[in-house]
Amino acid sequence: MKILSADFLLVCNDEFEILENAAICFDKKIIDVGSREEIVERYKDVKELYLGKNSLLMPSLVNTHVHLEFSSNRTYLKYGDFLRWLGSVIKYREIISKECKEECYKNALNQMLKSGVGIFGEISSRGESLSYCVNAPQKVLFFNEILGSQPEVVDILYNDFLNRLKESKKYASDKFIPSISVHSPYSTHPILIKKSLEIARSENMIVSTHFMESRAEREWLDRGEGDFKRFFREFFPHIPVIKPLNSAKEFLKSFIGVRTLFTHALFATREEFEMMKDLGGSVIHCPISNRLLNNAVLDLKLLEEMKLSYSVGTDGLSSNYSLNMWNELRAALFLHFDRDLISLSKSLILASTKEGAKALGFNSGVLEKGRSADIIAVKLPGECEVQEIAYHLILHTREVEKIFIDGEEECPIS
Ligand code: BEZ
Ligand code: FE2
Repeated sequence: MKILSADFLLVCNDEFEILENAAICFDKKIIDVGSREEIVERYKDVKELYLGKNSLLMPSLVNTHVHLEFSSNRTYLKYGDFLRWLGSVIKYREIISKECKEECYKNALNQMLKSGVGIFGEISSRGESLSYCVNAPQKVLFFNEILGSQPEVVDILYNDFLNRLKESKKYASDKFIPSISVHSPYSTHPILIKKSLEIARSENMIVSTHFMESRAEREWLDRGEGDFKRFFREFFPHIPVIKPLNSAKEFLKSFIGVRTLFTHALFATREEFEMMKDLGGSVIHCPISNRLLNNAVLDLKLLEEMKLSYSVGTDGLSSNYSLNMWNELRAALFLHFDRDLISLSKSLILASTKEGAKALGFNSGVLEKGRSADIIAVKLPGECEVQEIAYHLILHTREVEKIFIDGEEECPIS
């Protein structure tokens, strides 16, 4: 058992309760949370570690959407427009993949760990990140991605997906959960969607998908026109008539009975958000990626009004300059410039803790009795009034002082 105490403790419950001069007693799970005096008195035999002036304890962060297999990218890819980006991904995919070796994965995992990420959701397109995720200090929901629009390759792609899924299942544990990601409605053949989701449904998996990331996707799915029409003509010139594979509505309907995370949703309609909510789904917000590829910002106001939950993801280094979650939160704070600073900051912190853990199916994200002891310690740079903490935390934090996962302190991997 351990006791940590700090000047502040963010419970990260819906009330956004902040305790002052607080302590937490834990082993693998959280045993008790309360005032420093109370906890020290109650657990007399347990050694207490006070984290110092302006210290703060909170649940570890959850990055619900990352593509580690792109971690070697810095300047290969083109930003500013979704299809420009997609074209550059196709061009540089092999180079990026080859350059992403052990050191590159380690750096990516360490960057997340140092920023306080204790849980992440990895979208694996090829199974290349598998061993790194299995051995990561963090807890991982490992999404094996299925993708491919052309009917003649459906069987090959499905078998490849099944092999990757099977391989990942060999390593299933409390901290490594194998699952499925359906790439998107514009890129995935309905047969692949149906067959992969049958597995997800029968095995009660949490599934991830990209949905309505670009204006071009909206135009293509609704009217069969626009940049995607040009893209498909260029990449599949042998097809005489090019049509969208799925309508947005049919695509969403295929997730009935599956707990689903809808990533981006920048151009989703209110009706589509309602469908996501009815499905028991949630949205993943990747603000930096959205700015770089689509010049767009998720309608958080609408989500909050509809009480549709969202979490936060960095996306991969294919559409971001870092995997540091505090950079992501800072970007969100500035991108949603019309929102009240204090309530937005609280909402973003809850999205990266409580909502993220719930989205990925882990029993942490809130500092309360019975939850897994996934905890970070942070140092604020100066004295801070309690009602101002949420935005100061986002503005000033780059790396955490300590991170505990299942009660054990974790250090960067070497
Ligand atoms: C495909 O593999 O069929 C595909 C990939 C990306 C975008 C669209 C289609
Ligand atoms: Fe993504």
